[in-house]
Formats: sequence, C-alpha cells, structure tokens
Amino acid sequence: MEKKRPQWGSKIGFILAAAGSAVGLGNIWKFPGRAFEGGGGSFLLIYLLIVLFLGAPLMLTELSVGRASQTNIVGTFRRLGHRRFSWVGLIGIGGAFVITCYYCHVGGWVLRYVLGYATEAPKIYADSIDYFYNMLGYHGEGATIFPWVAILFAAIFMTLNAVIIIRGVESGIEKFNKIGMPALFLLLLILLVRAVTLDGSQAGLHYMVSLDWSKVSFDTFLAALGQAFYSLSIGVSIMITYGSYLPRTENIARNTAVVCAMDTLVAILAGFIIVPAVFATLGEQQIGKGGGFAFVSLAKVFEQMPGGTFFGVVFYLLLLFAALSSCMSLVESIVAFLTEHFSWQRKGTTISVCAVMFCIGCLYTCSQAAYPIKGVWFDAANGITFPAFCDFMEFLTDRIMIPVCALGCCIFVGWVWKPEKAIAEIEQNGIRFGLARTYSILVKYVAPLAILTILVMSFATGSTLS
Ligand code: PFF
Repeated sequence: MEKKRPQWGSKIGFILAAAGSAVGLGNIWKFPGRAFEGGGGSFLLIYLLIVLFLGAPLMLTELSVGRASQTNIVGTFRRLGHRRFSWVGLIGIGGAFVITCYYCHVGGWVLRYVLGYATEAPKIYADSIDYFYNMLGYHGEGATIFPWVAILFAAIFMTLNAVIIIRGVESGIEKFNKIGMPALFLLLLILLVRAVTLDGSQAGLHYMVSLDWSKVSFDTFLAALGQAFYSLSIGVSIMITYGSYLPRTENIARNTAVVCAMDTLVAILAGFIIVPAVFATLGEQQIGKGGGFAFVSLAKVFEQMPGGTFFGVVFYLLLLFAALSSCMSLVESIVAFLTEHFSWQRKGTTISVCAVMFCIGCLYTCSQAAYPIKGVWFDAANGITFPAFCDFMEFLTDRIMIPVCALGCCIFVGWVWKPEKAIAEIEQNGIRFGLARTYSILVKYVAPLAILTILVMSFATGSTLS
C-alpha cells in the first residue's frame, strides 16, 4: 500500500510556504541588480508583463499538475500517464540542485552580515565594499586568500537548512514563515522611506521609473524571464512538489495570485530601496559592481538612519529567514524525489545531498573574488566565452534550465495532458475558475511561443556575459 503523503497543516500554511519559497534572496539580492542592468523602469515593465502573462499561468500549471499527481516531480509525468515527459522533471531537479549549490553560499553571506551588524557595524560603515570583498577572500590589489569566512558561514547555513528539512514538511517549513514574512515586508517599507530620502537617491528613483529602451535587447527579456521564474520558484518544478502536498479543497488559482503578488511586491520594494541607495552611496564608478550590489549599498542606508545598526541586524535576520525558507523548498523537492524514487531514507539523503551541494557551491564563492575559476558559455554573437564560475552557474539556471523546464511544463499541459485537465483540477470542490479560457490560451500558445522565442533569440543575438 502506498504511504500517505504529508499535507499542509492549514490554508495560510501553504500560502506562506509557497510565498516563503518564492520570496528570498532572488528578490533582494538579485532583482535590484538585474533591474539596474536592464535599464530600470523598462526592465520593471517587462518583468511585470512576464509575471502576469507567463509566470502566474505557469505557477498555476505546476500546482495543478502536482496536486493532480500527488507525487514527486519526476513521478508526476508517469502518474499522469506520460512517462516520456519525465525529462522535464529531471531538468527541474537539476536546476534545483544547481541553484541550491550557490544559494546556500549567498545565504551564508547573509548570516555573516547578521553577525557583522550585531558585532562590528562601524567596520561595515567605514568601508562597505572592502568589508564585502574581504569576506570573499579579496585583500586589495589582487591579493587573495581562501575565503574561509564566507565558506564557514555557508556551512552553517546549509546545516541549519538540513536540520529543518529532516524534521519534515509541516513542522519545519510552515511554522517558519508565519512571522518572518510579514515582518520582512514591514521592515522593507521602513527602509524604503529611508532610502528614497537619502541625499542623491533621486537620480536612482528617476532611473527606476523611466523607460530607457536603449538598454533593452532580447537578452534583457531573457534576463527578466529567468529572474521572474527564479523569483517565483517556477521552472524548477518546486511548485509541482508543493502542489502535491495540497488538499483538493484548496483554491489554487487564488493562491497563485496571492503568491505572485506578494513575491513581485517584495522584489519591487527591494528595487526601489537598493537602486536609489546605490546611486546615493556608491557613486557612478561602483554602480553595477555585481554580487555585492545589495550587501554593499545598504550599509549607508543603515548608517544614516536612527537605530540603523539595530535595523541592520533585524533586516539581515529576516532576509536569513527568507533565504532559509527558499532554500528549504529547493532541498525539499530534491529530497522528496530521491526518497520516493529510490526509496532512500530521508535523513541520510538530506545530509548527503546537502554536503555535495555545499562543496560544489564553494567553487561559486571562490570565484567571486578569490580565485579565477571559470565556466564555459556560448552564444552566436560572442562565440565561446569563459565567464567567472559564479556567473556561469547563475546563467546555467536562469537562462537555460529554468526556461527549458518551464517550456516543457507548458508543452506538457498545453498539448499533451491538455489544459482542460488542469482546469478540472483547479475547479475541484465546486471552485469556479473565471479565467479558464485565458489560461488555456496562455498555456497553450502564448507561454511556449514567448519562452521559445526569447530563449532562441537571446542565444542568437548574444548575451551580456563578458
Ligand atoms: N525564489 C527564490 C528566491 O527568489 O530567492 C529562489 C528559488 C527558490 C528559486 C526555489 C527556485 C526555487 F525552486
């Protein structure tokens, strides 16, 4: 007899867990940087359209597939009678795996900053760029050492994660998000007020609301698509796993709307905090300096607000919660697959995969500042290039694995399983789905065509990798 799958303990529990997965480092650490590179307001507009027309329907698709099959993301396709689509689930698992490798390391940086603000805030304020790069083993003028500080904190972050995962779905993930999410939201509002009133932030604010199409290319669309999917936790089939824990009484269409709205709001808030803060504090030359964007620029925001150091600690603590709940969703989905597919034991599996992912992630951290570790990339315009390993990992997930898995899901539901089945799943228990027709058109034609076009054109016309 089949073992009963765990289910979410309450309605709000699921929404918070899905939002907990979606809201994370992607919103605060990645989004503002991407928005800046993509021309501010123009990127924002493209991003919003993508969330509305591609992201939300895809999230709904994944949730309905997961709930219909009630199993892990590879087994899903077999259970629904289409085994040959298992590759979609495998790419999803692969994507989740690669993301977790680096996610746990950036989570470690956040932990470092919690402690940093608590114990040595003046040092951060004195030279926030230096503080950030020091953590990554960079010691000025090309002098580098092994980034043991960053690695140590990443190890702690990953251990925390594994401990929560081992305790199971309900007790771990659900409880976790109930307080953290609303608190993060509130704090972001406070920071917004401080950031946009900093001297010099107006230029940044203006940048975020003006449309600069000269910076927009197919590559910007791919970056926005990858970012939107990443931020919503779709295209790695996480929502299939989460949907499989959902009872039939849940209105998944409404839940999708709530989660998408929450995630997007947090990203936009972060963009409107960090980009103006960057303009106000780092100055022209430092703008666009990659990974440290969020970490470095916020120092001045905290320094120049009453009780700033306290807010600094609280902010990074909340970001830590957000990062943990996202990372947990990634690990949970990998572990659910491995334990159900190979009948492996949960505890041992969690510990082993976490250890492997952490080790691979060390290359990510080392390539940030300390060592010249490279990946390989290709596009028609630039040919073969050798980007830093950290960029390579993010490009691999955001620009290939996530869009391809999302495309596979659309084709599966749009053309093989058929939107009618997804709609029937959404309309369980007398729930009416008013946008059923629009949804069908989006999942059948609009989403697959848009994803395919953006993917192909971006590689044909060249990426921004140097
Ligand atoms: N959505 C998370 C974030 O924005 O930080 C990251 C993430 C979590 C991506 C889970 C993918 C995923 F499946």
